[in-house]
Amino acid sequence: MIARFKEEVDRGLSCTPKRLPSKYFYDERGDALFIAITRMPEYYLTRAEFEILSQKTQCITQALGLQKGKYFELVELGAGHGSKTKALIRAWHRAAYRFTYLPIDISPCALDGLIAGLSRELPGVSIRAQCGDYFEILDSLRGDRHPKVVLFLGSNMGNMPDEQAAEFVHELGARLKPGDSLLLGLDLIKDAAIVLPAYRGGITRDFNLNLLLRINRELVGDFDVKAFEHRVEYDVREGIVKSYLESTRPQEVRISKIGKRFFFEKGERIHTEISRKYDDRILARIIADSGFRIVDKLMDGQGWFADYVLKRC
Ligand code: AVI
Repeated sequence: MIARFKEEVDRGLSCTPKRLPSKYFYDERGDALFIAITRMPEYYLTRAEFEILSQKTQCITQALGLQKGKYFELVELGAGHGSKTKALIRAWHRAAYRFTYLPIDISPCALDGLIAGLSRELPGVSIRAQCGDYFEILDSLRGDRHPKVVLFLGSNMGNMPDEQAAEFVHELGARLKPGDSLLLGLDLIKDAAIVLPAYRGGITRDFNLNLLLRINRELVGDFDVKAFEHRVEYDVREGIVKSYLESTRPQEVRISKIGKRFFFEKGERIHTEISRKYDDRILARIIADSGFRIVDKLMDGQGWFADYVLKRC
């Protein structure tokens, strides 16, 4: 893990323009900051998806083709604390659907919290949490014959460039059987006046800067985080939020575990994250080679966020 982190930081800071992978935001502090982001009034994504999952459960159930007597496995990729998913699980459990919930996450902390919360709130639900790589775990489930409903919520796919997202959906499709489903939560393209405030503000700045603190701690770096500013751009025609850390002065940063110094001009940026926003056309392009087809699209009342129901053909 640390070898990979070192290699990716070295590669990212050695190229022009500089970049760092956003997956490294999520250490313990990063997880806590992300939870704080989801509670910000401006970060509409989580509330919009919660509204869909809690108010449109019947439409979702129908589109997924779930039947009361037929057992299925509910696999959630990147379950985190599962707060939105609980709405679905509660409704299906109350209506006596038969299923096992299999949350998968790379963070053992998040999974422990999720299991504790669910066992307390919904003690009758069968849970089998697994910590690790999504595809390795899905590979290990390949032998069983149970129908699967996979959840990939929260617009998590938006943090992948389109080519990577297409590959991800293709790999996922290859591990599922015809008739299995995917519930894919995606933020939709809309005006900058709504999107940009969700990615600005002090908590999001700290979330972005946490990446430099993590490098300082784990790779023994000497980033002066006060000398970097959080910057965000969004062009509605492209539909992608781009987040950066911008150096406020010329500076040199030494990262001992890499054994190198990296130079920054005043105003030079590190590209740290993309948050892609979607529409039907973009999603259709991404899933073109995946074996999935779109069967339904559920939106919140404002039409800002969508949970797409996809079937593996
Ligand atoms: C996890 N992911 C979908 C969030 C997003 O909206 O791109 C991460 C995030 N970055 C800044 N704020 C939230």
